Amino acid sequence: LPLSRGPVASLETGRLSRPRNEVPIVTLSEIRARFLEFFQEHGHTVVASSTLVPQDDPTLLFTNAGMNQFKAVFTGVETRDYKRAASCQKCMRVSGKHNDLEEVGKDARHHTFFEMLGNWSFGDYYKQESLRWGYDFLVEDMGLDPSRLWFSVYKDDDEAFDIFAKDLGVPTDRIVRLGDIEKGDEENFWSMGDVGPCGPCAEMHFDQGEAMACDHPDGCALGVCDCDRWLELWNHVFMQYDRDQEGVLRPLPMKSVDTGLGLERLAAVLQGVDSNYKTDLFERLIACMAGIAGRKPEGEARISMQVIADHARAVAFTLADGATPSNDGRGYVIRRILRRALRHGYLLEVEEPFLYKVCEEVVETMGDAYPELREQRDRIVTICRQEEERFLRTLGAGIKIYGEIRELMKAEQRTEVSGAEAFKLHD
Ligand code: GLY
Repeated sequence: LPLSRGPVASLETGRLSRPRNEVPIVTLSEIRARFLEFFQEHGHTVVASSTLVPQDDPTLLFTNAGMNQFKAVFTGVETRDYKRAASCQKCMRVSGKHNDLEEVGKDARHHTFFEMLGNWSFGDYYKQESLRWGYDFLVEDMGLDPSRLWFSVYKDDDEAFDIFAKDLGVPTDRIVRLGDIEKGDEENFWSMGDVGPCGPCAEMHFDQGEAMACDHPDGCALGVCDCDRWLELWNHVFMQYDRDQEGVLRPLPMKSVDTGLGLERLAAVLQGVDSNYKTDLFERLIACMAGIAGRKPEGEARISMQVIADHARAVAFTLADGATPSNDGRGYVIRRILRRALRHGYLLEVEEPFLYKVCEEVVETMGDAYPELREQRDRIVTICRQEEERFLRTLGAGIKIYGEIRELMKAEQRTEVSGAEAFKLHD
């Protein structure tokens, strides 16, 4: 696989090692393929992404991490014929412990649907290999400038701290200790839900530079603020415990590793852009929406287009995996996401069904990596369009009533209209 290197900017000089326009873009597809190849070279079995709709886990509405399909392996209930695995997992973080729905549109790095690259050890290697390979992949393989990498470890994880400081040569002022579960601070302690496998984690972050710093009163710093400057790329979880319903942590039968690397975030860094939404794949979806709206992707309009691009991916992928919009549970979450996208369509003055067209663009852009999108194209387009038509009818009726209420208030110089009166208008 001919992998091109991304731009590598020095923090000291602020300059790229090569002028940006000479740097070949690293596409999401290339990164995805190279990650899996790297871990295959290190003895991992590459496994397919599991479905977004968990089949046998009542604790989850949607798959929220690459480790979900290995939950029973971590707890020792199930064994596989491999001890090392790697995957690129379809994830949704829209409910329960991991919910980023409200972040979408507010920052440059959160999504409802995203792709998570991950590698796992089931009672095989542990912290040393995991952190070494992670560092090597980012620095040697992907070509990131090590001076822009920052690291965090759980408060008393001296082993991980020493691996970064002594074995990998990271200056200690770029390694931060975070979290304290006894005090309810779950930074650098990861669990997929309120119950199940969990453990302390070490994270690899990319400093996006001064230009992206925030004005947090305690200073913009890793572990202090939560701004886009400190981009968490990769989480290495050291699976040690199984948390029960009462919150008690019991040691797992073996020590394992579970990592998660955000594909969209790494692509943004390698493509030299300051937002996931400016990466190759998202730019196509945003261009599609800009064409539908007949507007330039700028300012507030761009924010709406970003939300729509994100939500179109979530809708297309969940429908492809068999979920259906409805009024409860999983279906209700999809309905909410879809309607949130439509509200942003309204802000762009698009008052007809459009999301199904952006979903078609998702099928075009991601169908090679995820053939289920092409197989389920008709289902995606039909269900999405029906939902849009239904919602727009309801919204249209509501807006009509609202207009009539305003007229009534104006004509009669009133400041209130009762619910009963509004219902009569509806008749
Ligand atoms: N399972 C590791 C993560 O999601 O960050």
